[in-house]
This record gives sequence, C-alpha cells and structure tokens, in this order.
Amino acid sequence: MGGVLWCTTVLLGVLLLNSALFVNGGSTSSFVRKVEKTIDMPLESDVFRTPPGYNAPQQVHITQGDQVGKAVIVSWVTMDEPGSNTVSYWAQNSKTKRKAEGFLTTYRFYNYSSGFIHHCNISHLQYNTKYYYEVGIGHTPRTFSFTTPPEVGPDVPYTFGLIGDLGQSYDSNITLTHYEMNPTKGQTVLFLGDISYADQYPNHDNRRWDTWGRFAERSTAYQPWIWTVGNHEIDFAPEIGENEPFKPYNHRYQVPYKSSQSTSPFWYSIKRASAHIIVLASYSAYGKYTPQYKWLEKEFPKVNRTETPWLIVLMHSPWYNSYNYHYMEGETMRVMYESWFVKYKVDVVFAGHVHAYERSERVSNIAYNIVNGICQPVKDQSAPVYITIGDGGNLEGLATNMTEPQPEYSAFREASFGHATFDIKNRTHAYYAWHRNQDGYAVTADTMWFLNRYWKLEEESTST
Ligand SMILES: *[C@@H]1O[C@H](CO)[C@@H](O)[C@H](O)[C@H]1NC(C)=O
Ligand SMILES: *[C@@H]1O[C@H](CO)[C@@H](O)[C@H](O)[C@H]1NC(C)=O
Ligand SMILES: *[C@@H]1O[C@H](CO)[C@@H](O)[C@H](O)[C@H]1NC(C)=O
Ligand SMILES: *[C@@H]1O[C@H](CO)[C@@H](O)[C@H](O)[C@H]1NC(C)=O
Ligand SMILES: *[C@@H]1O[C@H](CO)[C@@H](O)[C@H](O)[C@H]1NC(C)=O
Ligand SMILES: *[C@@H]1O[C@H](CO)[C@@H](O)[C@H](O)[C@H]1NC(C)=O
Ligand SMILES: [Fe+2]
Repeated sequence: MGGVLWCTTVLLGVLLLNSALFVNGGSTSSFVRKVEKTIDMPLESDVFRTPPGYNAPQQVHITQGDQVGKAVIVSWVTMDEPGSNTVSYWAQNSKTKRKAEGFLTTYRFYNYSSGFIHHCNISHLQYNTKYYYEVGIGHTPRTFSFTTPPEVGPDVPYTFGLIGDLGQSYDSNITLTHYEMNPTKGQTVLFLGDISYADQYPNHDNRRWDTWGRFAERSTAYQPWIWTVGNHEIDFAPEIGENEPFKPYNHRYQVPYKSSQSTSPFWYSIKRASAHIIVLASYSAYGKYTPQYKWLEKEFPKVNRTETPWLIVLMHSPWYNSYNYHYMEGETMRVMYESWFVKYKVDVVFAGHVHAYERSERVSNIAYNIVNGICQPVKDQSAPVYITIGDGGNLEGLATNMTEPQPEYSAFREASFGHATFDIKNRTHAYYAWHRNQDGYAVTADTMWFLNRYWKLEEESTST
C-alpha cells in the first residue's frame, strides 16, 4: 500500500445539527505518514543479544509489588540452569545489602521449553529512594537499579509513560527509544497490553517471548512496567491440547493483584504517588456477578481522592474507538461499567488494541435502557477522557482505516506509531502529551492539560 487517503474532517453539517452538544468538532490529523510494512527485527538483531557469561540473567523486568509502591517484583530468566532465586539489593546511600528469596517456574508450549523464570518480591523499601539490585548470583551477576516512588499523597508529582501493543518490530524499537529519550522522563510505564506477539508465529514460537524480554530490558529492568493483558497474551492452542489461556504470560509476568483483594492477576489496582490505577481485563468475564464485576464494584468506593486525586483506568480493548479495526469490541464492557466510571469521576482511561492514536472528548453514553432508546454519547464533564494508544509499533502494522465521518466525541485521531506521557503536577493539574515516532524526541503531536475531575471539575482546553 503506497499511500493512504487522509481527510481533514471537520464536519460542519453534523456540527450544526448537534451544536448544543458539541461546540468543537473532532479532527483527524492531516499528518501524512508513509505506510510501510511493519516487520519484526530478526532473531540475530543487536537488541536481542543474550548477555555474556554462563547462566547470565536476561529479560530482567520489574513491576510494583504491593498496593503502595514499597515493594518491587523483580523477574529474570536464566537459560543454562536454574541458578539462584536470590536478589541482593541496597539503597544508593547505604552499605547494607539485603537479600530476598524468590521462586522459579518453567513451562512448555508446543515444542518450546522455557528457560528458568525467576520472580522475587523485594519489600519494605523506603519511598523515593534509588536502589541497586543484583541477580544471577553464583554464576554471572548483573546489577540494575530503580527508584521507588514518593509516598502516596495528593500533591506528589509523578510521570507515567503510556505504551501499548509494542511487539518487537523496527518500529517498536523506535517507540521505545523515543520513550527513553523523551525529555519528560517517564518514571513508570503503564502498558496497555499486547506484549510480544509471539502468538503470530508458527507454533506461537515462544522464543519471541524471550527476544521481547531481552529487547525491552533496557527499560523494564530500570523502571516498573504496570501490566494490562491484551488478546495476544491469551496465547492458547486447544488444537494441540494447550487449553490454558495466558500460559506463557502467567509464567513470565507477575502483578500484585492480591494486594488489592483481586482474585486474578488480570484485574487489580495499585496506588502510586498521587494516582490510583485500576487495571481491567478485556478478556476475562466482566458481566454481572462475575469475579471481575464484584471486585470493581467494591474497588471504586475504596478510591480516596484526598489521598490519590488521580483516578486512571487501564484496559486493552477501547470503548470509544472510531477506527474500522476492533470496532465495537469494547462495547459490552462499556455497557457494564461506564456508569461507574462517570459516578466515580475517572480522570482518564487508557486502552490499546487499535494500532493508532485517538483521544476522545469527555463523553458518556449511559442514559440508554432497553425501552428509552437514548443511545447517543453526550458531553459529560464527569466522564473520563478515553485515549487509545495501541500504537507501539508491532508487526501487524498501523490501523489506517477510520470510520467516516469522524464522530463528534472523537477529539483527535491519527494513524501513527508513538507513545505518550501523563505528567502529574499536583492534585489539580496533569500535562498529557502524545509523541509520534516521526518527530524529534521533544516534539508533541497532541497535548492536553488535564484538570482533575474530583478537585477541579472544569472544562479543559486542548491543543494538537
Ligand atoms: C519446533 O518445531 C519447529 C517446526 O517443526 C522447528 O522449526 C523448531 O526447530 C522446533 N524447535 C524445537 C526447540 O525443537
Ligand atoms: C534499536 O534501537 C537502539 C537504540 O536506538 C539501537 O542502538 C539499535 O541498533 C536498534 N536496533 C535495531 C535492530 O533497530
Ligand atoms: C510483596 O511483599 C509485600 C510486603 O510483605 C506484600 O505486601 C506484597 O503482597 C508482596 N507481593 C507479592 C506479589 O507477593
Ligand atoms: C482518605 O485519605 C485521607 C488522606 O490520607 C485520610 O485522612 C482519610 O481518612 C481517608 N479517608 C478514608 C475514608 O479512608
Ligand atoms: C475500511 O473499512 C470499511 C469497513 O470495514 C470497509 O468497508 C472499507 O473497504 C475499508 N477501506 C479500505 C481502504 O480498506
Ligand atoms: C498545580 O499545577 C499547575 C500547573 O503546573 C499550576 O498552575 C498550579 O498553580 C498548581 N497548583 C497549586 C495549588 O500549586
Ligand atoms: Fe490487541
């Protein structure tokens, strides 16, 4: 495909009809990107190199280990033998080395046998402190570092990075590089699901989980990535008797779900600095009476906006998506949960899945019931902004086909790869910026000052 039809759609007719609802129409970016096939980096690429040394730990990654950010789960893989489960760690300004003991897991999938996958929760850390940690003790130790977040509190500044549907193509590498080079300096990644895309390979070639782990290590070993599951993590194959969904993912990635009284790693919450982050599962049951429903029903009332003003929800499949890809896939979950999102004034919802970028107005569509027929999204200042950021750059390529005309609730959309940052300044203000990969590291392509829905329920202005 040599070119894509790009339209700037400011739909005057529709605008006039609905001017009571929407003063500003949405815009489709006129940025023209040359669409090339997105291809995975070959197995022998520099970013996939195994670290030298016998049984050297690889694919090192960390995530938050508890509800408040005083624990970190460290994970790594050794290939030659099980090796040690121990993590040695010490604060930057301290000579005292502590040790924590983790556990080991392995799995088989098709004809693939995993390496030795280690997970270790290190806890009772001090807030706002740089720690070094060492894994691979006994054979080839490797040392990394991370900084714990400040204590949970209402005016703590904190910067989250947003990356979705990353995969391991050349574009994925560019996305990760841009995230690393972004002068805004994200401190923690909120990952929106679809990690390695190993399931796109014959026999779900699980070596592609290993290559992904080695590729992303340069970020995942140094700052927590908060995991949301996507459809490419489901990764099951009943035709060969692999009936357990999420098997490779479950062995490789751990999340602190028990700390938020969840019964499943696919939905959970954490608090970090001034944010309360709820992670939902698009691919687990969410209907009434299901475990996820019951958990979320209890979770929302627990959110304390005096302690954590910012309420952020992550999910894979977007509810408000105006691309002709995965269209309406998020609809059934929206029907179940949207009224809670409005009632509890969620600030922003980040989703992935659609390989493009889109930001909505603050809208809700919750008036409908089976007899009244009222089913239009309406402007609603208590509603979240919905952002689709499935544009990490995986091998499936960009989603370029958009519904026309652009619906009015869609504030901005563009089919480009990129990442975003959500930079919390204090309890009332957060600066959000989306960066497309074609621009310089500091260039923003879509920005918005978020005003907190609990502390400053005023209409925001945006610029693109
Ligand atoms: C798994 O099977 C594929 C296809 O038959 C083959 O190419 C690959 O080498 C096998 N891998 C292992 C680890 O046996
Ligand atoms: C990936 O990006 C890094 C950092 O920009 C670069 O050093 C490396 O050569 C890239 N690798 C590939 C295969 O594109
Ligand atoms: C990690 O340890 C802390 C402190 O004991 C605990 O609260 C948390 O639940 C643990 N996390 C995991 C994933 O085991
Ligand atoms: C909410 O958090 C604030 C600040 O930490 C605290 O003083 C208050 O007691 C909490 N409210 C509830 C209902 O727990
Ligand atoms: C875009 O998607 C629509 C709806 O699925 C389809 O009818 C149309 O052919 C697609 N256009 C292109 C250029 O692929
Ligand atoms: C919160 O941050 C915004 C943006 O930096 C600033 O304009 C505002 O004055 C801050 N509010 C307080 C109370 O400091
Ligand atoms: Fe997806």
